[in-house]
Amino acid sequence: MPVTIKIRTGYDNKDMRHLINMAKHCETLGVAAIFVHGRLAIQGYSGDVDYEAIKKIKEALSVPVFGSGNIFSPELAKRMFDETACDGILVARGALGNPWIFKQIEEYLNSGLAGIDVPLEEKKRILKKHLSYIDRYKAIRAQGKIGLMRKAAIWYLKSIPKAARVREKITAAKNYEDLLGLIDNAAISAARASARHEI
Ligand SMILES: Cc1cc2nc3c(=O)[nH]c(=O)nc-3n(C[C@H](O)[C@H](O)[C@H](O)COP(=O)(O)O)c2cc1C
Repeated sequence: MPVTIKIRTGYDNKDMRHLINMAKHCETLGVAAIFVHGRLAIQGYSGDVDYEAIKKIKEALSVPVFGSGNIFSPELAKRMFDETACDGILVARGALGNPWIFKQIEEYLNSGLAGIDVPLEEKKRILKKHLSYIDRYKAIRAQGKIGLMRKAAIWYLKSIPKAARVREKITAAKNYEDLLGLIDNAAISAARASARHEI
């Protein structure tokens, strides 16, 4: 079974020599690929992504190296490839509420063109499917479940017209059924808002 590892660029400071030695040692031990989030552990999600460190690890290793950090758009995916020459990328927060990002990146890398926006109806359909999976499979208490569902709904609907009002309502939703009703209404009010915009 292939074993892969995921690392950051260090804990509280970057020591490139140590980082590369450690990555090479893992390679010697047989890891099949290395994923690198270009930040120190103490940075959390703050600060810039250290493309240079990912690039140096890539240059030093033979196994595939994947770059991670701030890939929120096809352009940033391309930047990761261009700046690090990595073999692959890892998208985390950019996929929250936008599972289409992988296709969007692929299309952009192949054609150089930004794809069209995902229609609201499609966002709504996939969001409902996502919520149904949380409902069915997430083995946690009801309060935790509705919290997770609210979060997911906000992710998917964050860029629709009147998103702030929709978010307020979602935050106040008490249960799964409320949330489903709100998603339908969010779609209607967004459609109204965009119709007004066209006029
Ligand atoms: C919901 C979520 C779950 C994550 N789970 C893990 C995990 O289990 N192990 C891990 O090494 N990193 C985990 N990460 C960190 C990501 O793999 C990634 O390195 C980091 O979020 C930076 O990428 P991003 O800017 O695309 O979010 C997680 C991130 C998110 C948003």
